[in-house]
Amino acid sequence: MNKSLRINKLINPFNKTISVEGDKSLSIRWVLLSSLSKKQSVAYNLLKSEDVFSALDCIKKLGAKVKISKNKCNIIGVGLNYKQKENLILNAGNSGTLGRLLLGLLINYNDRIKLIGDKSLSKRDFSRVTKPLKKFGASFSIKKTLPLTMKGINKPKSINYIENKGSAQCKSSIMLAALKSEGVTKIKANKSRDHTEILFKYLKIPLKIKKYKKYDTIQIKGVKNINPLNYKIPGDISSCSFFIVLTILSVDSKLLIKNVNVNPSRIGIIKILKKMGALIKIINKKDYKGEKIADIFVKSSKNLRAVNCPSKYNSSAIDEFLVIFLVAAKSKGISIFKNLAELNQKESPRLIWGSKILNYMGIRTKLTRNSIKIYGNPNLIIKNNIQIKNFLKDHRVFMMSIIAALTFKTKGSWDIYDLESIKTSFPAFLKTLKKLM
Ligand code: S3P
Repeated sequence: MNKSLRINKLINPFNKTISVEGDKSLSIRWVLLSSLSKKQSVAYNLLKSEDVFSALDCIKKLGAKVKISKNKCNIIGVGLNYKQKENLILNAGNSGTLGRLLLGLLINYNDRIKLIGDKSLSKRDFSRVTKPLKKFGASFSIKKTLPLTMKGINKPKSINYIENKGSAQCKSSIMLAALKSEGVTKIKANKSRDHTEILFKYLKIPLKIKKYKKYDTIQIKGVKNINPLNYKIPGDISSCSFFIVLTILSVDSKLLIKNVNVNPSRIGIIKILKKMGALIKIINKKDYKGEKIADIFVKSSKNLRAVNCPSKYNSSAIDEFLVIFLVAAKSKGISIFKNLAELNQKESPRLIWGSKILNYMGIRTKLTRNSIKIYGNPNLIIKNNIQIKNFLKDHRVFMMSIIAALTFKTKGSWDIYDLESIKTSFPAFLKTLKKLM
């Protein structure tokens, strides 16, 4: 059923403390890495969303044993060689991260295996990972999109590769294939989230990283086995972003969000919003197994100003631009976001659709293939009814629309469909929202 929500009034002032569910990137990486250890791994606060369930289903099909209870998940993996079965089909659902990382892990799967995904994932570019994986020795049935059939090889050869999209999914896929290869793989990768590197270091996988201004070089030596990984997954900054922006754009409100992963490669949103005059603080910072964890304190922010967003923040804010665009819509002046072609490569073409939603609201935008100009209007009153429907059921479009509906004055109402899409990344979104109402 296509469930919907109708919203026609602003959220009342609030002063609350919340937490959000586990980080999606870390949850998927924990599942995949745990499948490589023959010993038991345990995770607490694993994100229980559709993307993570898809990951669990895939590793079960590959021979791992999974036990999941209310706040704990146990995995006993199979080691570095997955169990081979004839005509195996793996379903990555909506998740680009799962699909792309999984192909790296299947590098030494010496039989045909089919990878499928949902309607949105089947539109996305997989050549960015099949290209390097072919260099390791794998062969594929496709050029660009799912479904695809892959055949790995018994003894993958290490490679040298330049990753120039700033895609952590691509970098991580290569890193996972490198684990299973003979010799040393060398990657030069444009900056992107570095959870895989941090987890590899914690697992004592031989790794050399050099950090430069615009890129990193990473060297990985193949291994014979992987240690189990016990992990307490911190809150997801991407899920927090909806509540950060809700608070900033509300009147007289305050919010404390506890125990969030504030890895520097993920907090672009905080840097950009601070530049726009938002009142946000990162407090109680601590280290956890190489990651940075903290609480985020945010207040309603008046006098927001437009930003000419430095492209150096693009990768660390890549999943948050839809809500950043909302702040630009309420700021004084013209905001400019450049070099964002990657945003159209997500679960939906978010640069185009973000612009479309702002236009529905009565905000003027100027869109190119890789940039957007947003003509902010702090006094905007939306004049018409808005329907959000058929955006490829993109979970972030759904949540962005709810935040807009609760923070921009309107003479009409919002009808927001595809409620079930939130199960992809943030199943507790509406429950968390209710705590503020
Ligand atoms: C992710 C990397 C990003 C991000 C995605 C999760 C990851 O994608 O958009 O939601 O966990 O590695 P790209 O690597 O394609 O930029």
